[in-house]
Amino acid sequence: MAKVLVTGGAGYIGSHTVKALGRAGHEVAVLDDLSEGHRAAIRSVPIHEGNVGDRAFVDAVLAAERPDAVVHFAAHCYVGESVTAPGKYWRNNAVATLSLLEALIGANAPVFLFSSTCAVYGEPKRGLLREDLPRLPVNPYGRTKAAVEWMLEDFHRAHGLRYASLRYFNAAGADPEGDLGEDHDPETHLVPLVIREALRGEGSLRVFGTDYPTPDGTCVRDYVHVTDLADAHVRAVGRLLSGGEPVRVNLGTGRGHSVLEVIRAVSERAGRPVPYAVVERRPGDPARLVARPGRARTALGWRPRHSGLPELVDTAWRWHEAHPEGYGE
Ligand SMILES: NC(=O)c1ccc[n+]([C@@H]2O[C@H](COP(=O)([O-])OP(=O)(O)OC[C@H]3O[C@@H](n4cnc5c(N)ncnc54)[C@H](O)[C@@H]3O)[C@@H](O)[C@H]2O)c1
Repeated sequence: MAKVLVTGGAGYIGSHTVKALGRAGHEVAVLDDLSEGHRAAIRSVPIHEGNVGDRAFVDAVLAAERPDAVVHFAAHCYVGESVTAPGKYWRNNAVATLSLLEALIGANAPVFLFSSTCAVYGEPKRGLLREDLPRLPVNPYGRTKAAVEWMLEDFHRAHGLRYASLRYFNAAGADPEGDLGEDHDPETHLVPLVIREALRGEGSLRVFGTDYPTPDGTCVRDYVHVTDLADAHVRAVGRLLSGGEPVRVNLGTGRGHSVLEVIRAVSERAGRPVPYAVVERRPGDPARLVARPGRARTALGWRPRHSGLPELVDTAWRWHEAHPEGYGE
């Protein structure tokens, strides 16, 4: 069993992973500045409250914890905001990560898991996305993530850093036991937005474009259950700690769902149709982003078990219904 430090562990995917790592028998500590995360999401897990980019703080945390592995979720995550405030994204997602990596090289060289994203692929024209496709991100958010992937490759070559770049597709769903869920402000993800409309009827649900070259004209995405993502991290920690080579893998299902399919799935769970308005396309939304999932199976023995759309919607629905104010912080 290992000692694992989780940056961004109070956030959405981080908190589910903290729970899964604890269940797997690891000793977990969180580093989070709580800019977006929630103290209630980590319950009694110890937290070092501060910024990943603060080198003196990070050095002190590493000296106190001496982790075997660092799982790095901490980042800003809004694509639209990254376009209008690129400096904020480069500083937090790339520069702060560089500072963290330099601190790790100086301290016992723990293994490193990085939250990457399908946004590194940019706007692919067709087909399932393979990990060896070129990185062609089209917004600052995706570029900062691609930059860190390159950083990791260089740090591996120069310093022997053992790492995994985990490229999540669209995280969704909530802890099946109901303890944890998604609480972002503002919320930009489709599943919680549709559920919120179903539960509150604010009349604010918008579908951006119905003229994409997809079967129903709306964008298609690969939704992966947050519990499945958490499981992949437990497996990646195990792989690297037992000496496995660095790896870059998609975490997706290989199956895409359109925006209208998601709205239909939530309508079925709600027992009534969820109303929406069709508006113009948003710039920079690719028609289709779906993973080729095979490498994660080979490298991590991972396959999504909870990512079927009905289960994913049901767990998210139960969380939002029971927590109308999220964590209420
Ligand atoms: N949610 C998705 O669908 C998705 C998809 C692809 C990749 N990702 C990546 O996964 C990671 C987690 O995403 P999420 O949806 O859980 O986001 P989140 O905003 O819920 O969690 C991020 C956490 O990091 C913390 N944080 C941010 N900057 C920090 C800093 N400088 N120092 C300390 N703590 C800091 C926040 O307080 C928050 O708790 C991010 O790196 C994101 O880019 C998410």
